[in-house]
Amino acid sequence: MIEHDVLIVGGGLAGSRAALAIAQNYPHQSVGLISKVHPIRSHSVAAQGGIAASLKNVDAHDDWLTHAFDTVKGSDYLADQNAVRVLTQSAPEVIIDLEHLGVLFSRSEDGKISQRAFGGHTNSRACYAADKTGHAILHELVMNLRRLGGTIYQEWYVMQLIYEDGINGKEIKGVVAYSLETSEIEVFRAKAVLLATGGYGRVFNTTSNDFASTGDGLCLTANIGLPLQDMEFVQFHPTGLYPVGVLISEAVRGEGAYLINDLGDRFMANYPISKNRMELSPRDITSRNIACEIMEGRGIDGGNYVHLDVRHLGREKILSRIPFAREEGLRLAGVDCIDRPLPVRPTAHYSMGGIPTNIDCQVIGIDSKEIAGFFAAGECACLSVHGANRLGANSLLECVVFGKRAGEKVGAYVSDRTMPDIDPRPYLTNIETKLKGILSKQGSSRIADIRQQLQDTMTEHCGIFRDDQRLKDGLQKLQTIRERYENDLLVDDHSTVFNMELMQALELQSLFTVGEIIMSSALSRQESRGAHSREDYPKRDDANYLKHTLGYLEDDKVKTSDRPVDMSLKLIDSDLFTPQERKY
Ligand code: FUM
Repeated sequence: MIEHDVLIVGGGLAGSRAALAIAQNYPHQSVGLISKVHPIRSHSVAAQGGIAASLKNVDAHDDWLTHAFDTVKGSDYLADQNAVRVLTQSAPEVIIDLEHLGVLFSRSEDGKISQRAFGGHTNSRACYAADKTGHAILHELVMNLRRLGGTIYQEWYVMQLIYEDGINGKEIKGVVAYSLETSEIEVFRAKAVLLATGGYGRVFNTTSNDFASTGDGLCLTANIGLPLQDMEFVQFHPTGLYPVGVLISEAVRGEGAYLINDLGDRFMANYPISKNRMELSPRDITSRNIACEIMEGRGIDGGNYVHLDVRHLGREKILSRIPFAREEGLRLAGVDCIDRPLPVRPTAHYSMGGIPTNIDCQVIGIDSKEIAGFFAAGECACLSVHGANRLGANSLLECVVFGKRAGEKVGAYVSDRTMPDIDPRPYLTNIETKLKGILSKQGSSRIADIRQQLQDTMTEHCGIFRDDQRLKDGLQKLQTIRERYENDLLVDDHSTVFNMELMQALELQSLFTVGEIIMSSALSRQESRGAHSREDYPKRDDANYLKHTLGYLEDDKVKTSDRPVDMSLKLIDSDLFTPQERKY
């Protein structure tokens, strides 16, 4: 059995920032960071366009309250307002802190950190490193963590949370993990566990997310009977490169790109809700407009994409501000955006929902009480600062603000906590049996086929537009596909070193659980709000649905419940923060 004061699962921005905060503030504590990939291959490295903060370098009148208001309005009033206050008030100081850690932000002429426009933000407040911002930040966090001596277990897959009776009732005591390199199974015991495992984009067939974004932390949490919050809110980023789905950053529109349909129109002008902000409308609105253009036959040549045109920006600006977008277009679509428009369509990008936590990142249960020894941060968590729709550049911010805060809080939390007692044997036996069970599957269905079926079902039945019948049919199909997995899976790789087939079989279980909770939550919310657009309930319904959805497993079935939204910023400015019709 391996032991650490704190165990962090996930090595992306939130996990690395949390580990670093513990190393900085509690140097005597032992921190173990487990990641199924090398930490700098975590999906945060793919974040591109920027990180929001009211630094006032471009717009001198910006302030945290305006940033908070934009965030709450962008969330369609579902965000928890005290969490938004922490996010936006802390933003300027975390950017300076990142700079001190060595992050190389792009500069303006006067030498200050440069800031660009992003959708739904009133002011230019996205700080950036060209269009490789996540890459620039994650590398420095991991370098600093290595410098301060955190222990990193890379390429270990966490299979179970240890959640059992402790001194004062049930508590999290550690995890059971499987080494991809050696096939060894280990129990890791800790005074607290922090999940920072990222999102689940791979539930859908078109996504900007990494292959590793399979919702594992969400599934681990659901498997111990704890709820996931607001899972119906899936962000489709407007500009995934067609057909592969990888991200063409919102920074491209922030620098002035146009969205064009087959008629050659800048069609955002034709929709009342986007005619003022045009291409810099919030993502839920922009993605819906693109989907409508395509559905109504105005995609390019009647096809499934529209054009993103940057030619008017000129070669120099393209090469200095958005070099990665150009490289992606060239490499993956054979299009040089200096001369030709890029083909784009919406792509699954981000999970607004996740593991519910309080503002100190401590996981809460269905009754809103804290779960002892259990914390979460980053995309896998739902604080909720994004509500029903996240604004671009607020995700890196959330990871850094709440990653740091989680590290500080968990460090303080374990200071007077004793190491829990665990008998590792039943856990080891259970996981060994489970792995053997998967390896013995000799049906006729390949993992890739089953996964494709699942992803197609999620996209067709729970995509940008939803309705009751499509969701019910989708849930039924998911059950049939899951039965195919249980009864007819073929696993023929029995190797014990980097058995990727086995890992993909495990990840597919996460995708099933997360997919079912997303669909069930979407079915239960009979209104349209933010990214959740119900054709049968096209209006927002504050009287009945100004509340968070909780989806959880009971006897292997998904049940739903809810909890209230925190409206505390109303106390500061009641006009701004009281829910109102969302107009731009
Ligand atoms: O478009 C982008 O660069 C993505 C940014 C984000 O999701 O915050």
